[in-house]
Amino acid sequence: MSTHIGAHPGEIAPLVLMPGDPLRAKWIAETFLEEAQLYNEVRGMYGYTGTWNGHRVSVQGSGMGQPSLAIYVHELFTQFDVRSVIRVGSCGGMSEKVAIRDIVIASGACTDSSMNRIRFEGLDYAPVADFGLLRAAYDAGVSTGSTSGVHVGLIYSSDSFYAARPELAARMVEYGVLAVEMEASALYTLAAQHGRRALAICTVSDHLVTGEETSSQEREQTFGEMVEMALVAGTSVTD
Ligand code: HPA
Repeated sequence: MSTHIGAHPGEIAPLVLMPGDPLRAKWIAETFLEEAQLYNEVRGMYGYTGTWNGHRVSVQGSGMGQPSLAIYVHELFTQFDVRSVIRVGSCGGMSEKVAIRDIVIASGACTDSSMNRIRFEGLDYAPVADFGLLRAAYDAGVSTGSTSGVHVGLIYSSDSFYAARPELAARMVEYGVLAVEMEASALYTLAAQHGRRALAICTVSDHLVTGEETSSQEREQTFGEMVEMALVAGTSVTD
């Protein structure tokens, strides 16, 4: 057991899908996994392990924001020997290239967080996705005929849901950023630190420019498509 994860050694699979919302972790386990067993409920941050197409897979909530995600990912890498973490989350569309219900696979993550500035003493590190997972997720999205548009590009991992300087979003878009979420940068950095694989896939739940939002039914459908992409990708890339 680690400080925040009440699992015994061996109870967590080498592949972990990671939604921000712990109730999404429960939904993924109940909807996609066979014989799912709950291994964690410390702080209500549910974690389950089951099988998908014969592969052991775990699903672990991360909570919101990089500091919360970093606690769970650090413990998964250092104490449970997890090899791949795939974030399955939502994001806000920033660029007009993406529409609500689309899926964004984050090739890299910009951030306003100080976590990496402290880690690298002011140097700007560029956190990027694992290319094997990214390619497999993109191929899975194309071959399953996903009903949503699938994009690969930059994401912005912000520390603030309610931005103090929303005017900066336009400049981020000019430089190629597609969408905003709150976790990918820390996930990619920790994977690099520990020599593991990571990917963030997000469905566009709302759009900062057009103001559109998805209904909860639409969110569930696109969320399900994204989880399938993550399962196909994660189980096809192994050591
Ligand atoms: N900001 C940050 N994270 C998000 C957003 C947003 O607008 N929408 C969904 N996740």
